[in-house]
Amino acid sequence: MLKLHSITVILLCYQLFGSSSGSLQDLGYPGWTCDASLYQKSAKVPTSAHAVKFSDIKIIGALGDSLTAANGAGAPKGDPLAVILQYRVWMNMLRLLMCSKNSTQTFFGYSTGIGSSNVWEVSKLNQAVPGAEAIDIITQARALVHLVQSHKDIDNANDWKLINIFIGANDMCAYCSQGEAGPHSKQAYKNNIIQAVQILKDNLPRTIVSLTGMFDMEMLRQIDHDKYFCDGLHTFECGCEKNKTFTNADVKRACQYYMEAQKEIEDSGIFDTSDDFTYVVQPFFNGIVVPPLNPDGSPNLNWFAPDCFHFSKLGHANVAKHLWNNIVQPVGSKDTQVNLSDPSIPLRCPDVSCPFFRTTKNSADCSKYL
Ligand SMILES: *[C@@H]1O[C@H](CO)[C@@H](O)[C@H](O)[C@H]1NC(C)=O
Ligand SMILES: *[C@@H]1O[C@H](CO)[C@@H](O)[C@H](O)[C@H]1NC(C)=O
Ligand SMILES: *[C@@H]1O[C@H](CO)[C@@H](O)[C@H](O)[C@H]1NC(C)=O
Repeated sequence: MLKLHSITVILLCYQLFGSSSGSLQDLGYPGWTCDASLYQKSAKVPTSAHAVKFSDIKIIGALGDSLTAANGAGAPKGDPLAVILQYRVWMNMLRLLMCSKNSTQTFFGYSTGIGSSNVWEVSKLNQAVPGAEAIDIITQARALVHLVQSHKDIDNANDWKLINIFIGANDMCAYCSQGEAGPHSKQAYKNNIIQAVQILKDNLPRTIVSLTGMFDMEMLRQIDHDKYFCDGLHTFECGCEKNKTFTNADVKRACQYYMEAQKEIEDSGIFDTSDDFTYVVQPFFNGIVVPPLNPDGSPNLNWFAPDCFHFSKLGHANVAKHLWNNIVQPVGSKDTQVNLSDPSIPLRCPDVSCPFFRTTKNSADCSKYL
């Protein structure tokens, strides 16, 4: 059984950008640079969640299930690797700005005192559990709060924290039995997310919650179709995905409900009531219905590990790229669909005229935060 810390070395910059990961060259990471001002921290630690530069973020945490299912690779409930996947995606993405400019510098910086052990320490802030449903992130949120509050190297009052949430696939796997009348209805899903984020808001000042938007589970059906992809994939247990009575149109509509719920939470402004906390949806998965493909239309196995089950480095990098690109786009202009099959899509740079983690408020008017 893989443990988080056994693979953390993969997170290090030199591996992400070094010769051992030549395939990543194809994604345009090496040589990617942005305006020098974007790499600098704010002169003073910001007090507003809408004025946080990427280098101001010290702590990264996560709640959720896994990105594995989201990308159609398939993961049985309880797979510890899936935790790693999500974690890695985040770490990779957030290291991009730092690493691409200076490969000896780590994201968390040496000043925090976390130093070279930061990777292991921070991995403990990933509370994501494969198989988790939205209701489970409430417990995860409490656990995360406890860890942040009790960790000697974290200054909860002052350190900026970025918490990623990705949840919904397992809810969707159970949705079909009772639909909108059951425990996985849109409203139930929404309430669970609200409860979890409220726990974060009540206990973690200086926090940005970034929620990776729901994907359309039709993608999984495409991969499973005729088992042409990989034999290993049918190990993925998703009742509603296999349920023939639950049509593709039903799947799409149900996934749409969750996407709407996520966005409604953002639009409601309930998590924008104090200036040092916010919630942003990253919707790039929303419109994707096909897995990464080869030019001939077959699934592109380069994105997956040889066992057809785990993501390859390239797969992580691909998702990380799109997530990053979404993050630097202003709310309201974020891509809601990306082409996973196109490796030539460039990494974006944050906007120099609004060099912050994009939030609802700084997207509406950035000038107040400059
Ligand atoms: C990388 O960062 C270190 C420490 O901040 C600095 O001494 C070094 O000059 C930097 N290297 C490059 C290539 O910018
Ligand atoms: C399959 O889907 C249909 C339609 O949503 C539903 O009525 C039925 O209960 C589902 N079957 C199972 C085993 O979940
Ligand atoms: C996605 O990118 C691939 C590779 O460049 C291309 O062949 C395909 O047509 C694109 N798909 C869409 C929907 O644009």
